[in-house]
Amino acid sequence: MYTQEMLESIKKVEAAREANAAMEPRRMTAEEKDELLKTYHPDYRKDQFGTIEVGPNKGQAAPLELIDILEGKSSLLGNKPDLSCPDYETDVLIIGGGGAGCSAAIEADNAGQRVMIVTKLRVGDANTMMAEGGIQAADKPNDSPAQHFLDAFGGGHFAAKKELVYKLVTDAPYCIKWLSELGVEFDKTADGDMVTTHGGGTSRKRMHAAKDYSGAEIMRTLRDEVLNRKIPVVDFTSAIELIKDDKGQCAGAVLKNMETGEILIAKAKTTILATGGAGRMHYQGFPTSNHYGATADGLVLAYRAGAKLLYQDTLQYHPTGAAFPEQIFGALVTEKVRSLGAKLVNVNGEVFMHPLETRDVAAASIIRECNRGNEVKTPEGQGVWLDTPMIELKNGEGTIEKRIPAMMRMFGKYGIDIRKQPIIVYPTLHYQNGGVDVDDTSETCVPNLFVAGEAAGGVHGRNRLMGNSLLDVIVFGRNAGIYAAKKAADVTVGEMNLDHVDAFEKLKEEAGVKNDKISPILLPDYTRKA
Ligand code: FUM
Repeated sequence: MYTQEMLESIKKVEAAREANAAMEPRRMTAEEKDELLKTYHPDYRKDQFGTIEVGPNKGQAAPLELIDILEGKSSLLGNKPDLSCPDYETDVLIIGGGGAGCSAAIEADNAGQRVMIVTKLRVGDANTMMAEGGIQAADKPNDSPAQHFLDAFGGGHFAAKKELVYKLVTDAPYCIKWLSELGVEFDKTADGDMVTTHGGGTSRKRMHAAKDYSGAEIMRTLRDEVLNRKIPVVDFTSAIELIKDDKGQCAGAVLKNMETGEILIAKAKTTILATGGAGRMHYQGFPTSNHYGATADGLVLAYRAGAKLLYQDTLQYHPTGAAFPEQIFGALVTEKVRSLGAKLVNVNGEVFMHPLETRDVAAASIIRECNRGNEVKTPEGQGVWLDTPMIELKNGEGTIEKRIPAMMRMFGKYGIDIRKQPIIVYPTLHYQNGGVDVDDTSETCVPNLFVAGEAAGGVHGRNRLMGNSLLDVIVFGRNAGIYAAKKAADVTVGEMNLDHVDAFEKLKEEAGVKNDKISPILLPDYTRKA
């Protein structure tokens, strides 16, 4: 599969492997990291960002592609549906059928409220399903939530909302128990102890995993629980606008059937947006590890309804996206590969960084190495080697098949045996660090509108650590479900309207923003070109 040029480079990687495996690369100083990020991280490419002209984040920076849809046009403008006879009426409406949406649904159902999930693909088609490496929780004797807090808060450049980080880390041990009791099969030793590993930026081994398909195992379990409880799920149906009432409260959503185009109205006492991230926006032309539905819908819907965004200018580029072969370009190569001992090496077989720096630093370091002329050339561009055979050198034969079978399979399909040959990686768009601003009950500044999971901001500051995303969807999915259900018990919905859609368009006109792009976009543009 590899080209002759790549095979020549692999000889250098092999020759240096034992020495590279034995060495402990130095960690960068804080100053070195700052300089590296400013020079090489995509978040610092000024020409790729613009200024938001309207709405609660007016004057702030955001990726150009995001501004285009945030300031886009509602498909309902001049074409308002009749809201007086809703097709669905529920207490808690959950938009999104991934990890956060399902966790919220289970807790709202526990609270005895009527719950309904709408999801634009099928329940479980979400980034949660695609998560690989694991979920963090400080539940070992040498660890503590306080330690976890320091790692997460520091890793996020001290920008996160402290009350959210506090909730994330203190709820984590219980969430592992909750998931285990629902049926998640975490990796355990023969005597029943959880197997845990490091991730980038963790000071303790607290990554709990189900091999390298942790997200699939968690999503499978949550989906089963939702279906077993007979919580209503409306598949292939997108939210295209939130509905408010005459008291300014969120009162449900306008939905669109993705197959027939039919417009449907869902009235709800409280609404939870759990629509996930934005990888399919392909910011700056990056490939992505995300599923097809990750098109920032939640940000658009909440913003138009008056909610604020946090850190919309910071994205996570996972350092190790597959860079070769092209069939898997951008697919996730889990950080667990590095946790297990594989190091990043350049075309000359030289180690150029500590393998477990935080993600933003690792991604910037790979980009720098390529810019220095030490890249491995690929048909799609470039990358560096991730020397996977080091794993078995360090941990013994059989480790790869046992601990990262999905990686072995993904590359094996293209004739690359990762036990014997290294793989080529380059950063891939993986996560939006920011999202809709919420308080510690997961509610936004729009009454009765809650947001959870990747669509919410503030938990991770300006950079998220590995394994804190699966944790986020469980902790804050449950949190949103609990509080949205509690609030629903006291809500009376007033007269429903879509006045905010006109108001937003008026703001655009006043600001001289001419943008007719229909948003939310629901699916990436290229799915329409086939
Ligand atoms: O590398 C990974 O397995 C990804 C994990 C995460 O984003 O938390």
